[in-house]
Amino acid sequence: MSMSTENATLGILIMAAGKGMRMKSELPKVLQPILGRPMLGYLLKTVNTYIASESEGAPAVKVAVLVGHAGDRVSGYLESFPSIEIIRQEEQLGTGHAVRIARPWWEGFDNVLVLNGDLPLLSVETLETFVREHKEAGAACSLITFETESPEGYGRILRAASGENEETCKISIVEHGDATPEQRRVREVNAGCYLFDVKGLARVIDGLGNDNAQGEYYLPGVVSLMNDAGMTVRATGVDEGEMSGVNTQAELAAVTVRVRDALVRKWMDRGVRVVDPSAVWLGPDVTLDAEVTLMPGVQIWGNSVVGAGSVVGPCCILTDARLGRRVELVANVIVDNSELADDSKAGPFTYIRDRSELKEHAFAGKFVELKKTTVGRRSKVPHLSYMGDATLGEDVNVGAGSITCNYDGKNKFPTKIGDRVFVGSDTMLVAPVTLYDDSTTGAGSTITEDVPEGALAVGRARQKNIESWRSGKRQREKQGE
Ligand code: UD1
Ligand code: CA
Repeated sequence: MSMSTENATLGILIMAAGKGMRMKSELPKVLQPILGRPMLGYLLKTVNTYIASESEGAPAVKVAVLVGHAGDRVSGYLESFPSIEIIRQEEQLGTGHAVRIARPWWEGFDNVLVLNGDLPLLSVETLETFVREHKEAGAACSLITFETESPEGYGRILRAASGENEETCKISIVEHGDATPEQRRVREVNAGCYLFDVKGLARVIDGLGNDNAQGEYYLPGVVSLMNDAGMTVRATGVDEGEMSGVNTQAELAAVTVRVRDALVRKWMDRGVRVVDPSAVWLGPDVTLDAEVTLMPGVQIWGNSVVGAGSVVGPCCILTDARLGRRVELVANVIVDNSELADDSKAGPFTYIRDRSELKEHAFAGKFVELKKTTVGRRSKVPHLSYMGDATLGEDVNVGAGSITCNYDGKNKFPTKIGDRVFVGSDTMLVAPVTLYDDSTTGAGSTITEDVPEGALAVGRARQKNIESWRSGKRQREKQGE
């Protein structure tokens, strides 16, 4: 049989055309996010890692994905995997129908591995063992099963008591909706991971019917057909943890927590200090150095990078943030697509966004928003400020309450602040405007014109004191004025 030869070609077919009715969502099931990445992405990563590790022994491994429901969205996502072929299943008449549609593709291989699209936790090791054991056994079909305390919804594995080898005794699969109460008590279920000898599959696939509770062509139906035709079918059990499918929002959340736990664990093993691992959320594309500390309530997403010795304080949310070394985020800091250089500091309650930058030893403090703004080395924006489209030089101090007026309702304008500038409290910087090196603005000024180097700019009404205002007022009232 072709399986026993090491050079057998392998096609990997992923079924992702279903709607996922039980998710009750417009988003197709395989695109439901786990830590920001579509569920399908996890399976594709496993498959690609498997192919890379096997590439010497396996000369031709190719991958195709069946798309159908919201097919344009799914194939749109697959554009980032250019080596993957897309096969359309316009009408989703069941998993057996899906595999039948793809027949012209898989007929070109010796073997075909068929995977449910909702297996985000499947590991490379399990896949390797599964394929290797199938080859060694020379079976026509191998499938993965697991034992579970809650088998509702899964296809049950029925093993005919033939007294033979447990793995190969006659197997059939009955779907939950078609099972008798007695069959429903079976705790061994079909995981949705099958490996077929292509010739064997081709012989039986057209024999599938749809006379069942869901009126669908069930792929698991081929198992009995193969048995009846005298082919060997093997079912091997693996740990439930890896194989649980995702059918509901509750299952999605449970799987997400497991992926999160594993991810946080991975970073802790590399020296990241996590005060409460259950209270930290990380995306799969985040990079953390050793000696980073993450306090409870931290969320880090996108392609964020955090350098050694940095402390991310409670409830900070980082998305595509680049933090250097020894950066301190006090608490409740939101960093969005922005960069904080070594030894800079922010928070509490700071919003840094849209390609903003804190240079070395810079500081942005309480209730400060930075948008497309660079704060130079050792410069400070400590309290209650909005800096938008601004460039601050080195050793600048921005007094409390100062803001850039960078928007006239139509266009945005830049503000330039030189080195060692002292911006007095509550200064309104009406852009476009430049404060040259070593200049100063008086508190409460509205600055509409450039301030020359070394100058003091005062732009506010002069204070006028009216003597005896209170007593004079009371007298006027008494006289009934
Ligand atoms: C399926 C199995 C069941 C198994 C379970 C494991 C069938 C009939 N039943 O049930 O034995 O225990 O997986 O999770 O296969 N899909 C298509 N085209 C279709 C229908 C489905 O591509 O026409 C895809 C779906 O997108 C999904 C996968 O096939 O990725 C499985 O479909 P799903 O509806 O989740 O099957 P289950 O009912 O869970
Ligand atoms: Ca399923």
